[in-house]
Amino acid sequence: MASLFSLDEHVVLITGASRGLGLAMASAMAEAGALVVLNGRDPTTLEQAASGLRARGLKAETAPFDVSDFAASAREVAAIAARHGRLDTVVLNAGVNFRKPLLEWETEDFRRVLDINLTGCFVLAREAARAMIPRGSGRIIFTGSVMGIVARPTVHAYAAAKAGLAGMAKTLAVELAPKGITVNTICPGFFDTEMNTPLMQNPEFDAWMKSRCPLGRWARPEELGGAAVYLASRAGSYVTGAMLVVDGGLTINM
Ligand SMILES: NC(=O)c1ccc[n+]([C@@H]2O[C@H](COP(=O)([O-])OP(=O)(O)OC[C@H]3O[C@@H](n4cnc5c(N)ncnc54)[C@H](OP(=O)(O)O)[C@@H]3O)[C@@H](O)[C@H]2O)c1
Repeated sequence: MASLFSLDEHVVLITGASRGLGLAMASAMAEAGALVVLNGRDPTTLEQAASGLRARGLKAETAPFDVSDFAASAREVAAIAARHGRLDTVVLNAGVNFRKPLLEWETEDFRRVLDINLTGCFVLAREAARAMIPRGSGRIIFTGSVMGIVARPTVHAYAAAKAGLAGMAKTLAVELAPKGITVNTICPGFFDTEMNTPLMQNPEFDAWMKSRCPLGRWARPEELGGAAVYLASRAGSYVTGAMLVVDGGLTINM
């Protein structure tokens, strides 16, 4: 049974993996046997994260770059695939969120969120596919959000990007299926990460979230790890174009 979820010999790139959900998914995938390449912008925090994994006997490297630098993204994906002779899975997870009432939104800020959360994922998916197609196999996993399915005020660019990712995952899934590549979107609900610190520290929001979510609590980052292992492993071989919602029941609750 263990081999169904094994990632032995797999090489996996995870963007936005210096902390939060990216690091939690990297940790779970490394525990399943993968060599994980952690990405983020800050080389120091990235190296600390990788050393933490290596101290547990896991295989981890770093690839610092900004996912909105599209040339750097293409270069780094090619370099990882060349260095290891394979790139089995990419988890395109790096993301930012700005929360502002509509009339305070600058167009440039909207564009910046889309560059990181959507266009950057498109470029990385394309470059990963370039490395995966010759081997006839690969897994592309996007971190979407429940905010691509349901709505709250102020997060206009974020919601546009996350809904866009889920849509793009489906077109990529149908185009890349004949090449042996699956493409899926994991949609997390509300997790206890740095991105949500302002929400968790807001007593009103905290109470609303706990009453709205059937499981009645914020999720722990490690509770997303299994979803990434599933979609990257043999267990997920027939799953493509799917949105895997991990939200404690938030979006199905009337
Ligand atoms: N937390 C939640 O409840 C939740 C819910 C739904 C979806 N998500 C999604 O899950 C993903 C991770 O969220 P999180 O909560 O773990 O956020 P987080 O704690 O703020 O971590 C974000 C990660 O992305 C990296 N990053 C940010 N901008 C980057 C860029 N331009 N290039 C490369 N790396 C970049 C950060 O490292 P550096 O700052 O060093 O670059 C960090 O490693 C995001 O896509 C987010 O939208 C989160």
